[in-house]
Amino acid sequence: MPRLIRAIYRVAPDAQALARCAAQHFVEHAERAVAARGRARIAISGGSTPKAAFALLADPAESWRARMPWSKLDLWWVDERCVPPDHSDSNYRMTRETLLDHVPLAPGQIHRIEGELEPEAAAARYESAMRNHFRLEGAELPRFDVVALGMGPDGHTASLFPHTQALHELGRIAVANYVAAKSSWRITLTWPAINSADAVFFLIAGADKAQTVHEVWMGPKDAERLPSQLIRPVGGILTLLLDRAAAALLPAPEAEGCGTLERKE
Ligand code: 6PG
Repeated sequence: MPRLIRAIYRVAPDAQALARCAAQHFVEHAERAVAARGRARIAISGGSTPKAAFALLADPAESWRARMPWSKLDLWWVDERCVPPDHSDSNYRMTRETLLDHVPLAPGQIHRIEGELEPEAAAARYESAMRNHFRLEGAELPRFDVVALGMGPDGHTASLFPHTQALHELGRIAVANYVAAKSSWRITLTWPAINSADAVFFLIAGADKAQTVHEVWMGPKDAERLPSQLIRPVGGILTLLLDRAAAALLPAPEAEGCGTLERKE
């Protein structure tokens, strides 16, 4: 029985408008989670695209900083490079510089991946922290309220890179993944852990990703080559926040820059 994978996409005219759309998305999901469950458990990505959105969330001149329920937030990462937290490649360092140093989050609300450890130890400790925090038993998976993902031009998301071992890790929550293309180790949530979230959104900008966006969400299933195709939240809400350049090969969005993509698999 083919499954219908549906993604809602929203197209912003440029990168700055996309960042504003992302800031709005973060706050709306956090407010909704706090209203429903009293807490907002968010997992974020690193890389460069989220930087502008984090800066807007931290900016006291913007409305989002005041709206965000910071005291009820728990911040997790979808992945980390295997480097110390002050390394220039560290996703934690990028987030600290653009967001954490400027907002009222207590240390206990920030659950970083210890990239400075030996990879498997880092993955095991991170998985254990999630099991404790979410009070998981057996094969249960964490239920993040929202997961924010990026995507590389190669179709990777989190640190789920094409043709890597992590794509086949189904029983774990977080794993160490050797990425030969980068000659480096990463720690990443597994795709089943990401998919157990209530909502997942991709934040994608740039013309260099337009072809991949089209292949991932309009092309045939080929998740070994395009790991972003593995992302389909069981909560059912998959949203793509794109700038016009990244959305160039998608059907023109209907009203208010929104559209829906459906793929049978
Ligand atoms: C990382 C991210 C990764 C990122 C994509 C897109 O550790 O780099 O988690 O999955 O989201 O590589 O990165 P850009 O936003 O820099 O294009």
